[in-house]
Amino acid sequence: MTAVLRQHAEIQFAEELEQLAKADDRQRPANWKLSPWAVVTYLIGGKLDNGFEVSAKYIGNRRLMEIAVATVATDRALLLFGVPGTAKSWVSEHLSAAISGDSTMLIQGTAGTSEEQIRYGWNYAQLLAHGPSENALVPSPMMNAMKLGKIARVEELTRIPADVQDTLITVLSEKTLPVPELGSEVQAARGFSVIATANNRDKGVNELSSALKRRFNTVILPVPSSEEEEVSIVVKRVHELGRALELPAEPPALKEVARIVRIFRELRNGQTEDGKSKLKTPSSTLSTAEAISVINNGMALAGHFGDGVLRAADMAAGMIGAVVKDPVQDQVVWTEYLETVVKERAEWKDLYRAFREQL
Ligand SMILES: Nc1ncnc2c1ncn2[C@@H]1O[C@H](COP(=O)(O)OP(=O)(O)O)[C@@H](O)[C@H]1O
Ligand SMILES: [Mg+2]
Repeated sequence: MTAVLRQHAEIQFAEELEQLAKADDRQRPANWKLSPWAVVTYLIGGKLDNGFEVSAKYIGNRRLMEIAVATVATDRALLLFGVPGTAKSWVSEHLSAAISGDSTMLIQGTAGTSEEQIRYGWNYAQLLAHGPSENALVPSPMMNAMKLGKIARVEELTRIPADVQDTLITVLSEKTLPVPELGSEVQAARGFSVIATANNRDKGVNELSSALKRRFNTVILPVPSSEEEEVSIVVKRVHELGRALELPAEPPALKEVARIVRIFRELRNGQTEDGKSKLKTPSSTLSTAEAISVINNGMALAGHFGDGVLRAADMAAGMIGAVVKDPVQDQVVWTEYLETVVKERAEWKDLYRAFREQL
């Protein structure tokens, strides 16, 4: 165990990446650490010829990952798009780790993201003392990625103001970043590309300009299509996170995870899983990522304040926090769900009681 709370993917999965590189005899695009095939295997998981097991990072449609990887292998940038919690940032990190061996060249998009953060800034002490020079220039992660021929990541692209977004157009179409102050430019080395993420729930975000949109190939990451798939994502991540946090609780039984996921899916889809009853949907996103947090919180409660076994009461607090974001409307939706669905399920009596106590 190291003292670092969260390792970068390329460190945490260094062994897998090394084994893949060894087994990989397919063609690698210039400056790539692995072939596109090996990158997809890293993401989806699989068994190598020598028996080595590569763990799955993304659980879902293999084809989507192939399309994503193929995009980066062309000269187009990749935009991962979808509702919150569909593993956009997660996939972006793992793609960069597998392709470039480095997932750290990251620009976090916000309403306050400036052009300097995408291009370059200046060290003002140096600038005042010696004037504009290479030494005074502070490169952005984008500039570093271009120099090194690696992937630059842009998180939450659509939150960046439109005029600042446009800085990316030259970078993506000309593959160059001019530095007029020095009369020079940085030309991207082969292997450079951009992986951006964007959230379709962001309200009032600046829509991508059509010029920029054309430079991206968009891959939509869907919410898990089946309950089974969603349960397997949650189980896997809960185990991994529980281990990383050294929570003194047993990993939850599959049945517990399945109940939480069922509640998330039913409220999200606006109907019961059997399709028989229509339900009101709350304003909350109820993403897979939040289901993972609800169970993790429950495990922390069970481990530190309970008997180490996840019980209904341990899940109730986090569950209500995830569903009821608007104290008035969501409360109505939640209460109705409790009384019409949860209460009626014979094997959910403990959940019903625990949820009632939280109201
Ligand atoms: N299909 C999936 N496969 C694997 N993990 C997933 C999947 N969907 C969600 N997750 C998990 O959900 C968490 C949140 O994902 P994140 O990348 O932050 O979401 P986003 O950026 O889309 O809002 C991650 O820990 C990830 O492991
Ligand atoms: Mg994200």
